[in-house]
Amino acid sequence: MPSPILDLAGITLEVNHLPRGVRFYEQVLGLDLLAHDEERGVAHFRVNDAQTLTLWKPLTRQANDPRLAPLRARGASHLHYAWQIQPGDLERSKALLDEQGLPWTEIDLGTPERPDPTVYFFDPFGHGLELRGVDLLDERQPTYPPTPASRPAHALPVMGLREVALAFGDYAAMKERLPRAYGFAYAKEQEDRDFAQFTLGPGPEPDGNGTPRRWLYAWDPQVGLADMFGGDHALVQFYADMEAVLERVRKEGLPHVLEEGRLAVRDPEGHVFEFLPPRRGGAL
Ligand SMILES: [Fe+2]
Repeated sequence: MPSPILDLAGITLEVNHLPRGVRFYEQVLGLDLLAHDEERGVAHFRVNDAQTLTLWKPLTRQANDPRLAPLRARGASHLHYAWQIQPGDLERSKALLDEQGLPWTEIDLGTPERPDPTVYFFDPFGHGLELRGVDLLDERQPTYPPTPASRPAHALPVMGLREVALAFGDYAAMKERLPRAYGFAYAKEQEDRDFAQFTLGPGPEPDGNGTPRRWLYAWDPQVGLADMFGGDHALVQFYADMEAVLERVRKEGLPHVLEEGRLAVRDPEGHVFEFLPPRRGGAL
């Protein structure tokens, strides 16, 4: 049976200072600000036609999104996530990070025959960001393929969100549950780490070599590459065949909210996953 998960739709990050977050994501990443509400503690950005990035500042006795209050949703803390860029933009990106005074680390995730240089850096809130080159002509295309974006000259030329890495205390249970309870396509795990890779698409695929596909990574609490954590209490949005996911979630008996055409589920480890129906076109 193909996985009902279609693509990565967005992430929500927890921040302790909203204006600083808005400044960083507008200036460094060049994202378009769609909404900024200090009273609700929410800033919402467009990444591309299909993906968004949201910042939540926790407020006492107040839910950032009342719809998700029953699930006690929070933005992710110290989340590792990756941006898709064109490989030819990597050198310029490093220079832009230098100009912004942001330290970065470069790691080659490829092989001597096929290098895959990747750049890691942090936002002001301890989230671990990555710039990963993708081959736009690769045949492994996601449902909503990345396309070159026009960003301000001072901003990183990011095209889309590529991956999100979450921490799970009970790694073994997670590995069974994610495919069973939601239908995530388990691709593989790393030999030397408790690190599982799920393809956000109809079936498991090999990672790497510039694939434009999107990924959910899951590992036990550990510090991974470039000293980056997997996120805690993450809030992640996915495009999906919602009926198929809802059937699994009900069978699993997980707390969920079905409202405004979106299905939100609280995972036993405290992450909240939101499943959105496929887009009908048009810009965000
Ligand atoms: Fe990564």
